[in-house]
Amino acid sequence: MKKSTMGTVLIISTLSLLSFSFISSQQALSHDGDKFWDFSNLKRPGVLPVNNANYDEECGSCHMAYSPGLLPKKSWMKVMGNLEEHYGDNAELLPQQHIEILNYLTTNAADFSKYRRSRKIMASVDRTIVIDRITLTPYFIKKHDEIPKRFVIDNSKVGSFSQCNLCHSNTANGSFNEDEVSIPGVGYWHD
Ligand code: HEC
Ligand code: HEC
Repeated sequence: MKKSTMGTVLIISTLSLLSFSFISSQQALSHDGDKFWDFSNLKRPGVLPVNNANYDEECGSCHMAYSPGLLPKKSWMKVMGNLEEHYGDNAELLPQQHIEILNYLTTNAADFSKYRRSRKIMASVDRTIVIDRITLTPYFIKKHDEIPKRFVIDNSKVGSFSQCNLCHSNTANGSFNEDEVSIPGVGYWHD
């Protein structure tokens, strides 16, 4: 074999070894028995974009309709179980809407999501405690702990961390990427 041919063979075999170990690590990550050639198994960035008009309308009037992938199933059950006393407001629904929205939120909750941010939220929460706020998940707290109060609570253009879409410009696509953050009255965020 010529030297150059040997080099090529070496490169090709290294590459195939690398891709093999990539595939098997992907496979090892999958706990639900999916096949590695099923591309739906590859993790997607962000969270599931809200894709239910009824939910968007009923739960998106006081704050944005949060992606179901931002909280675990048990948290959604807790929120939905107490809509008449909803953080100081009454957000009760008609029985049929209640059933549909509860079903939408729980079947698409972070527990079952293949979106990367949902996996990270799930990995951060203590499963023995049922929290009723995204802003109380350890993942959320870690990502926002350097933002001063004056940009949020004391910022009349924001008021609360619950108003995600005021700072995150691409939430409609399920994206919370830090490159797309612009805090009202403050501007683009650089840490
Ligand atoms: C009448 C107004 C109103 C409606 C309608 C409403 N909410 Fe809320 N929601 C609030 C308020 C007020 C808060 C607390 C916001 C804050 O602390 O700044 C809140 C907070 C939340 C939070 C916690 C956000 C956080 O801080 O992490 C969740 C989750 C939530 N709402 C889900 C829902 C769902 C699901 C529906 C539809 C069934 C809904 N909301 C409809 C007023 C409303
Ligand atoms: C006051 C503006 C503001 C609000 C409101 C806000 N965020 Fe953020 N968020 C930021 C900033 C700024 C960063 C980047 C922080 C950093 O890089 O230190 C960030 C980062 C994030 C990240 C990590 C992004 C990355 O690329 O790693 C996620 C996820 C996120 N926010 C989700 C949310 C959710 C969900 C809500 C609503 C419940 C929310 N944020 C509300 C300002 C905000």
